[in-house]
Formats: sequence, structure tokens, C-alpha cells
Amino acid sequence: MVSRNDTSWLLRGNYVKPSIDLFQGDARNLDLIKDGSIDLVATHPPYAGIIKYTGERVPGDLSSLKLEPFLAAMRQVADESCRVLKPGKHCAILIGDTRKHKHCVPISVRVLEQFLDVGFILREDIIKIQHKMKSTREKWRGTKYDFYMLAHEHLYVFRKPATGEKLSEFKNSVKWR
Ligand SMILES: C[S@@+](CC[C@H](N)C(=O)[O-])C[C@H]1O[C@@H](n2cnc3c(N)ncnc32)[C@H](O)[C@@H]1O
Repeated sequence: MVSRNDTSWLLRGNYVKPSIDLFQGDARNLDLIKDGSIDLVATHPPYAGIIKYTGERVPGDLSSLKLEPFLAAMRQVADESCRVLKPGKHCAILIGDTRKHKHCVPISVRVLEQFLDVGFILREDIIKIQHKMKSTREKWRGTKYDFYMLAHEHLYVFRKPATGEKLSEFKNSVKWR
């Protein structure tokens, strides 16, 4: 960890050296991980198809999907993330938006809905400023473009409800539809 601040407080108490198991696979299917066994899920998926991560078609590459199938895939990712998390623990996802025909496509909102749908509670929506949006910035700097630069991403932090937890007090932070 590299930090400008003192992080020693993170190690206060009884520090237990973690054991590390590394699996390679598809975020839609975490079958090598047991139910309720994980303390934190941190994920950074493609933003639908706005950047392609594979040249040719690679099965399972979420960046090869158009918006609707991408959202269906993210629903599976949300479901699996919730399954493997221990009750009460958190899942963080970094996700951004795009623009089509000079109009905003709020991928982040649609992904947020998938995570709420599977039962997560929204704990935080942290805005990450984006500094190197090459393609958008070049266009935005031109004089003939009448739209704003997309200069942020969302780091959503969800919490899996604790066992038996009443959700009524979080009713405005859970699925609302
Ligand atoms: C926005 S990038 C995240 C990059 C990451 N933050 C890093 O620094 O390496 C999205 C990543 O998701 C990967 N990806 C695409 N489909 C996936 C899937 N089905 N399961 C897991 N990862 C996938 C891509 O290969 C790419 O590395």
C-alpha cells in the first residue's frame, strides 16, 4: 500500500497474516469460492463496450457486450458477489458512463440497479475524478462540440445485509422499484 497518510491504525489490534488464494475466472461465476466466505469484493468491470479489452472475441469478455446483455451479465456478477460475501460485508465497484449521439448513457445508474436488485444496500457513492479521458477530452476541447466532458466515475460501495437485519431503516438505500 502506498499512502500519503499514516495507515498504521489499519493494523491496530491483532493483525492476522492473510492467506492468499488466487483464482483466474469469470466474475459471473465464482464457483470456486464458498458462500459467505469473503470479507470484501472489489471489482472494476468494463464499462459495457466502450473500451474493448480483447482484440478478437474472447468468450466471457464483458467488454464485447452491448448495453442490455452487459447489464444482464452485471446482474450475474452482483448475484455472485453477494453470494460469496459474508453477511454485513462490503462490495465495491468502480463504474463510469458514456455518451452516444451527444447524450449521456448512464451505465453506472443501470449497474447500480443490478446490485440493488440482488439485495445489496447502497452504503456510499464515491466520485472519482477522471484525469485521462483521451477520446472525450480531445473532442470536448474543440469548439463545435456542445456537450460536457464526462470527467468522473462512481465507486459504489454496497453492503450485504447482516443476517436477520431489518432493512426498513435503509428503505431509501435499497431497491426502490
Ligand atoms: C476497466 S478494466 C479494469 C482494469 C483493472 N482495474 C486493472 O487495473 O487491471 C476491466 C477488466 O475486466 C476484465 N474482464 C472482462 N470480462 C470479464 C469477466 N467476465 N470476468 C472478469 N473480468 C473481466 C477485462 O479483461 C479488464 O481487465
